[in-house]
Amino acid sequence: MDPAELLEIIYVSDINPDLTVQDLNTLHQQAHLNNLKNDVTGLLLVTDKHFMQLIEGTTLAIQSLFKKLGTDERHSNVRLISERPVANRQFPDWHMGLRHCLDRAETADIAAVINAYGTQQHFSAQHATAVGMLFRAI
Ligand SMILES: Cc1cc2nc3c(=O)[nH]c(=O)nc-3n(C[C@H](O)[C@H](O)[C@H](O)COP(=O)(O)O)c2cc1C
Repeated sequence: MDPAELLEIIYVSDINPDLTVQDLNTLHQQAHLNNLKNDVTGLLLVTDKHFMQLIEGTTLAIQSLFKKLGTDERHSNVRLISERPVANRQFPDWHMGLRHCLDRAETADIAAVINAYGTQQHFSAQHATAVGMLFRAI
């Protein structure tokens, strides 16, 4: 794989239950600053139980970030749903968008999908396609 080629990764993880709203804000600020520097973009979705994140950037940047994410104690059980080279970014202006998906009417459906995925350990190509569609619909 060409290290300069664009790569997109989507994963789901379990939130560390001790994480506070303040911790989440700190995480978001840190991610935003790092991502500006490394030209990483994407979207982080948060429910009461899980994170689901799409990250996109050069293969080099994304593989390095995904390695760090795997050891971050603010979440656990990081599971890769989809990894694919892409021609264009989906969120070119978001050096990490953050969306809280709680049980409010407008995000209840998204939260339900994320929480359903969050109970699974393995993902098929069909799952990857469906999650890709979820991010495109946001
Ligand atoms: C759910 C979640 C999402 C994260 N997203 C990003 C991100 O988009 N970019 C980033 O640089 N770090 C992100 N982090 C933090 C990384 O795991 C790691 O702490 C950070 O990249 C280390 O930065 P450093 O190399 O400057 O120490 C995230 C962490 C969590 C738990």
